[in-house]
Amino acid sequence: MKATLIASDHAGLGLKMFLKEQATYLGVEFRDLGCDNAQSCDYPPYAQELCRKIRSGEFEKGVLICGTGIGMSITANRFTGIRGALCANEFLARMSRAHNDSNVLILGGRVIGAELALAITKAWIDTPFDGGRHSRRLELIDQ
Ligand code: RB5
Repeated sequence: MKATLIASDHAGLGLKMFLKEQATYLGVEFRDLGCDNAQSCDYPPYAQELCRKIRSGEFEKGVLICGTGIGMSITANRFTGIRGALCANEFLARMSRAHNDSNVLILGGRVIGAELALAITKAWIDTPFDGGRHSRRLELIDQ
């Protein structure tokens, strides 16, 4: 089983703990990069560490969680090769994999409930990239 990175700030901590409890159902092994307590903290360093580990090839995918998902999303998508998808429903999660080959799922811990987040994460993990014309479009992003 390939390890999937996961990281959050304090506002995403509760949802992160819940998703980690569901690792067997999700079929993944999570590697948690923090934070690990409810004390207020800054989200960028967590997003940056996770994205650097994916860019290095050490890991393929990761999940980032903050309050809205927006701060993590802005930070993650500054990294070339990182395709971060802020998803609020299962359709977005599936499409972000099938058409965009998203390698970072981003969730808002203050926006969606735990069960919806679980369904979104499951859909994201289980959906393969369609390739084909979508590969060409992904290549165009970095040109
Ligand atoms: C923390 O209060 C909050 O600003 C952060 O978790 C996130 O929502 C930022 O985008």
